[in-house]
Amino acid sequence: MTTLEVLRREAARCERCELFEPATRTVFGQGPASAWLVLVGEQPGDREDLEGAPFVGPAGRLLDTALGRSGIDRGEVYVTNAVKHFRFERSGNRRLHKTPAVGHVRACRAWLDGELAVVAPAVVVTLGATAGKALLGPAFRITAERGRPRDWEGRLLVPTTHPSAILRGPAPERDAALDAFVADLTVAAALRPEG
Ligand code: URA
Repeated sequence: MTTLEVLRREAARCERCELFEPATRTVFGQGPASAWLVLVGEQPGDREDLEGAPFVGPAGRLLDTALGRSGIDRGEVYVTNAVKHFRFERSGNRRLHKTPAVGHVRACRAWLDGELAVVAPAVVVTLGATAGKALLGPAFRITAERGRPRDWEGRLLVPTTHPSAILRGPAPERDAALDAFVADLTVAAALRPEG
């Protein structure tokens, strides 16, 4: 049986797709191996690529707010991404997020499977379409399926939106979008095993 540390070390040398080249580093998941909940995002952003940890930029701050409001402590959660390298395109000296392709998600899948096997959480929450499709297949649709727990590979899985989608959305709708995100996370919180 492997450990998160072994996986992290191996993933740090990952060259399974071309994203490793322009990215600064592999951004592996973070959190306790005993976590009851694993959150799966899309891919690291600019800040995450520089700092080497998932969800530490603006989307991460919104995620922390939403977790707090739903009664989940970030410290009890393992947070990771479907793709472990930042995909971007340059615009001047800025690096702009570019959605990973199916091939990138596929190439990275072994790391996510490894993390899920080691942590063996009771509950998985997918954040956004990329993570949802990574685990549930190409037919997955957030609007139809978010907030509804389902059985998935012996665990419960709750799909929801991505915090970046809330940040990118129109300002007047942001509060309602955040409330809906918190409601989905509250559904996951209610699935926390006792003890
Ligand atoms: N968005 C993600 O999907 N993951 C991160 O780690 C940061 C932003």
